[in-house]
Amino acid sequence: MVLELANGVYWVGVVDWGLRYFHGYELSTHRGTSYNAYLIVDEKTVLVDTVWTPFQKQLLENIREIVDPSKIDYIIANHSEVDHSGALPYLMQFAPQATVVVSRLGRESIEGHYHQPWNFKVVKTGDKLPIGKSELLFIEAQMLHWPDSMFTYLTGHHILMPNDAFGQHYATNFRFNDQVNQQELYQEALKYYANILTPFSSLVLRKIDELLALNLPVDIIAPSHGVIWRSDPLQIVKKYQKWARQEGEYTAVILYDTMWEATRKMAEAIAAGLAKDGISAKLLHMAVSDRNDVIAEVFKSKAVIVGSPTLNGGLLPTITPVLEDLKGLKFQNKVGAAFGSYGWSGESVKIIQSHLEQSRIKIGADGVLAKWQPKKDDLEKCYQLGRKVADAIKST
Ligand code: FEO
Repeated sequence: MVLELANGVYWVGVVDWGLRYFHGYELSTHRGTSYNAYLIVDEKTVLVDTVWTPFQKQLLENIREIVDPSKIDYIIANHSEVDHSGALPYLMQFAPQATVVVSRLGRESIEGHYHQPWNFKVVKTGDKLPIGKSELLFIEAQMLHWPDSMFTYLTGHHILMPNDAFGQHYATNFRFNDQVNQQELYQEALKYYANILTPFSSLVLRKIDELLALNLPVDIIAPSHGVIWRSDPLQIVKKYQKWARQEGEYTAVILYDTMWEATRKMAEAIAAGLAKDGISAKLLHMAVSDRNDVIAEVFKSKAVIVGSPTLNGGLLPTITPVLEDLKGLKFQNKVGAAFGSYGWSGESVKIIQSHLEQSRIKIGADGVLAKWQPKKDDLEKCYQLGRKVADAIKST
């Protein structure tokens, strides 16, 4: 069902209620997603982004509700990832005369994906494309979150279409931010930021500064996933600035797995130590927790404490992937610590500490290793570990 956002500007995207894993691995999407595409009918007809390939026919039908696709003059490909460009080859069969507008690196990746001799127009930051009463202004946004990423701004209607930036994997029958549950909306927006954009936080801050310096009036921010920001649209920009600073809350996350409850008891003693000093902690059992949700919790906290028993000289297999995530996401301003039980060899604490150090997470307390089931003395060490981490984050 298409929706008119402003006079002659239509949402022609699709809602994917059933998606649970984006790309199969990158991100869990408990609330589905949407692929937002926008059709602008002025003297020229412009489509901004497409949708993921399985939904290409629906996109075409949506466009046909407004115009004959053969009338499309320009298709703006803000980003070449397949959830936004996947329908391009199909659509180009119905709009063969359309020019595909891309950034320099966008051309490389769109050609790399589809190997088609389309008519391309390469644009850079500051370039304008007149389309009638309005014009399109392009702003390259490299590494937000791919090298090719670009924002498109529509003058006249003051609509910023920043593709993935400011989006959320959030399927809803509403299209606008003021219509949905705010807690769900921000949970999904933060999860998206934490899992996708964290490593590029310094670029996010610079890009937002650059954007604000243009002094463009912004009435609507229309991202390529989730709801459209029309009510106080800059609220999500301010949130990104806050998230990009990665200050974190004075809370802790304890990630652990356990074989016969020894490491779990240690985790609970650490949580008690944190509680003694007024620090709220979430215990996340990795065998039953979603990794992307866990990353969102780590993102929000100032401390991440990781526990695993030693298995075959290493960690339990549920722990290693999240440690790899931490390494890749390059969180800043976090304090960490390690703990775990063992039977006949006890490498887990050293391995976890090494991962945390490689992730640039400062070790805030000596690790605790307990042989077999933790004794009272071991649990006391865990309790003190919690207290030391609480001290460490209070002094940040
Ligand atoms: Fe929504 Fe980077 O694709």
